[in-house]
Amino acid sequence: SSQQSPASSPVPMTIIAHRGASGHLPEHTMASKALAYGMGADFLEQDVVMSKDGHLIVHHDLTLDATTNVKALFPNRHRQDGHFYVIDFTLAELKTLSVSERVNTSGIAKYPNRFPINTGEFKLHTLAEELTLIQALNTSHNKQVGIYPEVKSPWFHHQAGKDISLAVLQTLKAFGYTQKSDKVFLQSFDANELMRINSELLPKLKMDIALVQLIAFTDWQETKQRVGGKWQNYSYDWMFSAQGVAQVARYADGIGPWFPMLVDDNWQASALLTEAQRLNMTIHPYTFRIEDTPKRFASFEHWLQYTNKKLGITGVFTDFPARAKSALMH
Ligand code: G3P
Ligand code: CA
Repeated sequence: SSQQSPASSPVPMTIIAHRGASGHLPEHTMASKALAYGMGADFLEQDVVMSKDGHLIVHHDLTLDATTNVKALFPNRHRQDGHFYVIDFTLAELKTLSVSERVNTSGIAKYPNRFPINTGEFKLHTLAEELTLIQALNTSHNKQVGIYPEVKSPWFHHQAGKDISLAVLQTLKAFGYTQKSDKVFLQSFDANELMRINSELLPKLKMDIALVQLIAFTDWQETKQRVGGKWQNYSYDWMFSAQGVAQVARYADGIGPWFPMLVDDNWQASALLTEAQRLNMTIHPYTFRIEDTPKRFASFEHWLQYTNKKLGITGVFTDFPARAKSALMH
């Protein structure tokens, strides 16, 4: 519409289903994706890692420990650190695992009020399998629900001799996601990898899709870069300023910040947010979970309304797509 939207009025909000409707069903299962689709999400997120035989697996962690029965089925297949890595298993082996609600290291449900652990029968799946489902749903609903893949820890895959970004892009291309208008955002925490995707891989594949730089305060395992022949820890600190965001705008269309980075100590827009808005960047903060509602807000709904109306944010990652959508309908 041509209506002007002052900062205190609602602006249309894009709902990105974080790992599917993961507040209701085990994350990244086909069921959680189908449920999110039915709830009216605008985009479904896919975290992507690679199997031993080079298949792209929709899974958040590099390891299988927290969401599958891998320990029971393959007791000896852990590394020295005690963890079971997706990249050490073939797709055929991964398909034998059962997926369950996420647990912590003590085997206790991370979110106790969610779907009960060890209930139902859920499986891991590939990126291609999920894109096939989404496109079939789009056909049968005459809709265009989008996709939002994340390349997980590219440095880790490069160490293992695997170019996960190239593989993801080739899969996207095979499914017809090649242009900015194709309802796809490709996200990563790894700035160096996004720069490589932007300057090398997209031109090579004759693709031009929207890229989103994820931003977090913490130094996670994603943050390594090659210096000479060695992998070293890498800090994102340079992104946290207005200047840093302007730097990101050179190679990415948007940012995916951890929500607290959007506000200052008085809950007003941070410099990072203001600069990203000035540059007309896409801004999709994560992660809106009912359980993580900041104390300042009376409810999850109030949190979303503040984010939308006061901060002018037009898209969010959420584990609860239906609650988020209805919070923004008035
Ligand atoms: O990709 C946005 C958000 O999902 C980033 O955090 O750890 O859930 O992938 P994570
Ligand atoms: Ca993600």
